[in-house]
Amino acid sequence: MGDLQEFLKLAKRYLQQEMVLGTREVYLPSQQGREKERGTRKEFAAQDPAEMDREERPGSTGGRMSKAEALQELAKEVEKCTRCPLHKTRTQAVLEDGSPEAEVVFVGEAPGREEDLQGIPFVGRAGKLLTKIIESIGFKREEVYITNILKSRPPNNRNPLASEIEACEPYLKRQLEVIQPKVICALGTFAAQTLLKTTTPISRLRGSVHYYEGIPLIPTYHPAALLRNPGWKRETWEDMKLLKKVYEEAR
Ligand code: URA
Ligand code: URA
Repeated sequence: MGDLQEFLKLAKRYLQQEMVLGTREVYLPSQQGREKERGTRKEFAAQDPAEMDREERPGSTGGRMSKAEALQELAKEVEKCTRCPLHKTRTQAVLEDGSPEAEVVFVGEAPGREEDLQGIPFVGRAGKLLTKIIESIGFKREEVYITNILKSRPPNNRNPLASEIEACEPYLKRQLEVIQPKVICALGTFAAQTLLKTTTPISRLRGSVHYYEGIPLIPTYHPAALLRNPGWKRETWEDMKLLKKVYEEAR
């Protein structure tokens, strides 16, 4: 029974990823048989490219988007998003930095001033520290993936509102479904509490492995908090060593 449930969980995750990558139909063996009986779908479809199944179109990748393509689609949506009032005050939406093929995803809180101006997450002072933290455990910034809970800057960098988090969360969910990282690092209170659906403070969440949709998640202090409280760097280093260990074990 336990095995079946584990299998169903994995099957669900696999199908969810297929869906965000563009797959719309899955043929079961019995259905394939029936398609054959109905005969020559391919033959008549082949006359008109618009009628062809996506996977039969020349130059297509099996009706399935690559991770990069799926994220480009998402970026287009986020650019024009008006789901919360922050779209009125932002310079631009800030979706991501790093690799669509990343195995490690870092999630922060929201873009600040520099991020809002450049359209890239974690490029200001906290971002420079994050880059050092990433490099301290042997990764390159370009090979991991970096994003935030909110894709728009809150005025004067105030804390995100619950309503803003709720409006923006589906985008983060899609990002994680597309990437399927081996490990997630939640930076600070808002990322950790949002992903783990908890109100436990970051000081108690950090230091151990949690799970987001079956993916190991390591909460740690936000780099901006480290700039204010340099004494927290030792614990952050412990968390990063834990992240590296979990990552090595998941490979
Ligand atoms: N190596 C990768 O290719 N991606 C990561 O996210 C980390 C290490
Ligand atoms: N702080 C964050 O949480 N995210 C950024 O992108 C920059 C600063």
